[in-house]
Amino acid sequence: MRDDGRTFARLGLLGFCAVAWLLPAAEQGHAQASGDHQYTSEDIEAGSRVYTSECALCHGANGDDVDGVNLRLGQFRSSVSDDDLRGVITTGLASARMPAFDLNSDELNGVIAYIRAGFDPSGVAVKVGDVARGQDLFEGQGDCSSCHRVNGRGPRTAPDLSDIGAVRTPAALQRAILDPITALLPINRPVRAVTRGGETIQGRRLNEDTYTVQLIDSEGRLRSLVKADLAEYEVSNTPTMEPTTLSSDQVADLIGYLLSLRGMQ
Ligand code: HEC
Ligand code: HEC
Repeated sequence: MRDDGRTFARLGLLGFCAVAWLLPAAEQGHAQASGDHQYTSEDIEAGSRVYTSECALCHGANGDDVDGVNLRLGQFRSSVSDDDLRGVITTGLASARMPAFDLNSDELNGVIAYIRAGFDPSGVAVKVGDVARGQDLFEGQGDCSSCHRVNGRGPRTAPDLSDIGAVRTPAALQRAILDPITALLPINRPVRAVTRGGETIQGRRLNEDTYTVQLIDSEGRLRSLVKADLAEYEVSNTPTMEPTTLSSDQVADLIGYLLSLRGMQ
């Protein structure tokens, strides 16, 4: 059974490469732009077979049979990155009765892809890179910390990301970084208000009801405005954040870092 599965997965992968070769350069570029950040559907397929035969016995069909671990939802005790998962699977957890597995690299890749896809064979499995490298990028080359606040450090103009790893999936984080326009949440929309007194307030909307709007202004102050007191009020659909120009590996590292942010400890 398992051998059939592997052959099938390899053939699938070969088919995929052959198609990629034949694509015109422009489309190939596009395929790479989204594909590099992600595992292929062949990886996920192959991984589902490995999971069923090697892991489901203890972790269960839904991935939640082991206390404190939910593989389908990406909840682990200590792992964050794909390399962390690779480490756990290949060395096991002796203290916790999880054996070491001797999987070939396609099988290992596949089972990680299957976990990252949320056990959904047609899902999106985003690669998750290294936390420490991601933090360096966040504070350095990526320039993220010039707008975002983490654990009490940084400005308040952009959303505070201190617990973003607990509230967003890897796929949502990837979308926010690569494609801020489609990722823009209503709650994060930039607003501009002019009071009847003539003061212009720019900021980010936190909350709004029929009569009032709460926002964080550009100085980082929480403001509550009564709409009847405003001469102008606009909510923009254009995100403040630009799509990143970092490489796919760097984006994977950033996602690793963001997933490690789970609120002040
Ligand atoms: C014999 C039972 C058993 C099998 C088979 C098993 N596991 Fe585990 N696994 C465990 C236990 C128990 C834990 C909890 C460890 C702990 O409490 O820290 C665990 C934990 C994990 C974790 C979480 C690590 C973390 O950082 O919290 C991952 C990921 C994982 N297993 C993946 C797998 C995969 C993938 C397979 C199949 C290739 C597999 N396991 C097969 C028993 C098993
Ligand atoms: C110019 C300021 C600015 C920079 C630089 C910036 N961001 Fe943002 N980011 C924002 C703002 C503002 C939002 C809210 C949505 C919007 O307006 O784009 C946001 C939204 C996000 C979100 C979504 C938050 C949520 O609630 O889901 C993530 C994740 C994120 N940014 C990560 C990053 C990372 C990683 C970098 C560095 C590569 C970065 N940002 C650089 C301003 C910035």
